[in-house]
Amino acid sequence: MIHAPTGENIAAAANILQSGGVVGVPTETVYGLAGSIRHPGAIAEIFRRKGRPHDNPLIVHVASLSQAYELTTDEGRIAIDALCTYFWPGPLTIVVPASKDVPDAISVGLDTVAIRMPAHPVFLDLIRQTGSPLAAPSANVSGRPSPTRAEHVLEDLGDDVFILDGGPCEHGIESTVVQITGDVLHILRPGAISREQLEERWGGELSRAQAQGNQGIVRSPGVKYRHYSPSASVVLSYSVDDALSLLQQYGENTCALIPASFVGQFYPHTVRLLSTVTLFDEFRRADALHTGTIVVLCDESVLANEALINRLRKAAGIDGKG
Ligand code: TXA
Ligand code: MG
Repeated sequence: MIHAPTGENIAAAANILQSGGVVGVPTETVYGLAGSIRHPGAIAEIFRRKGRPHDNPLIVHVASLSQAYELTTDEGRIAIDALCTYFWPGPLTIVVPASKDVPDAISVGLDTVAIRMPAHPVFLDLIRQTGSPLAAPSANVSGRPSPTRAEHVLEDLGDDVFILDGGPCEHGIESTVVQITGDVLHILRPGAISREQLEERWGGELSRAQAQGNQGIVRSPGVKYRHYSPSASVVLSYSVDDALSLLQQYGENTCALIPASFVGQFYPHTVRLLSTVTLFDEFRRADALHTGTIVVLCDESVLANEALINRLRKAAGIDGKG
């Protein structure tokens, strides 16, 4: 059920979490499905409800720096101080060495943990009232577009989940996941905080390549899965002519997802506006209308938007495997 974020409902949600249940929560990025890190049953329930692969670790959300410090080692604390104190609360997730306070079920066998302090007041209040950090992946069924409204959570996870409604998400795309090795800052998943924003704060090297473990294992297991996909086929095009001929080719049941400046050139096709904030909404909307194919126009501004093009390529099945 969807609940307004009243004091009473937040207290009820904290109660559910303290008893080992799960709650749908608003964040400034996308909605999450939260469970207390102290309750193995809640963590198992998160994996079960999402149909999440068991080798994909969860982000732990904190409401204070001291909560974050307890989850990591001295090395991790230094990394948090170097970068996160500037961006937190906000859409930056840092992967740091895990302390013994991090249950295996969350880090799924890695010796690291992903931590973030969200910027949504309702979620922060809930973490404080629960009195424990909350593990929360995006509240979609695995593989579906991430939810950016409370109704999306209901759509994917069902009516028996307690969902706090914090309104539409400000960013509409997930947090940026980073890891520091030596002087190098690696972006494991591009997201709501841009490379340029990170560059401004980070004195050292910023790597495009992902951090690799000792055995060359990709350090962010989630990136290998196909993600963010609507049921409709997503086809990327790189010029107006290309997009128009694809629309012709795929026929009636199509929709063009394009930057606002091109709208005039697409008459009489069905047109929706492409932006990072509304991308996942548009995917869900297309599915609700049984759209067969979404033709996306990627102009230079789209190609330069690392997080947006990352999600588009995954939705199109170009990166990541199903
Ligand atoms: O904005 C967000 O980050 C949202 C909201 C709810 O906070 N959460 C989110 O969680 O997107 P999820 O589970 O959908 O994505 C978490 C990503 C995955 O790609 C996962 O593999 C990666 O973070 N991750 C988690 N723990 C990790 C770790 N120890 N090392 C490397 N990557 C990790
Ligand atoms: Mg997700």
